[in-house]
Amino acid sequence: MLRVDQAGEYGATRIYAGQLAVLGNRHKCSALIGGMAAQEQEHLAHFDALLAERGVRPTLLQPFWAVAGHALGAATALIGPAAAMACTAAIEDEIDAHYSGQLAELGDSDPPLSASIEKFQADERAHRDAAIEAGAETSLGYPLLYGAIRLGCRAAIELSKRI
Ligand SMILES: [Fe+2]
Ligand SMILES: [Fe+2]
Repeated sequence: MLRVDQAGEYGATRIYAGQLAVLGNRHKCSALIGGMAAQEQEHLAHFDALLAERGVRPTLLQPFWAVAGHALGAATALIGPAAAMACTAAIEDEIDAHYSGQLAELGDSDPPLSASIEKFQADERAHRDAAIEAGAETSLGYPLLYGAIRLGCRAAIELSKRI
């Protein structure tokens, strides 16, 4: 669980970095993306610490997620700000479902971990809502883009659990 969560939060920081690399800091979406990126950094720092504390090795795919995450962020931002928001909406919906699954699986077995996941899940839901608010659904080809990114995110989750 910790390996895949750390990988996911790392991927999130890379996606937002890729989007900001394209949009810069003067675009009207930049502050929103910057704020979400800062929260992802907090989530990542928490899982980094937990990995170290509990002796869990990170995914071997980390170098790959560094490139793939950045590329996904940059590519969606190049399509346009609405597509960048569509990317966030898709990713966060998938992560929301992923965290719900983990919370159900954890039950009462690890209250501190459950508390962290609940907090992060609330942040991810807020990111999704902000992305919709900022026009995610107005992106050209939204259903296709949304579906493809969710599918890719799900594949990344499954790979990061195993490798
Ligand atoms: Fe996050
Ligand atoms: Fe997020």
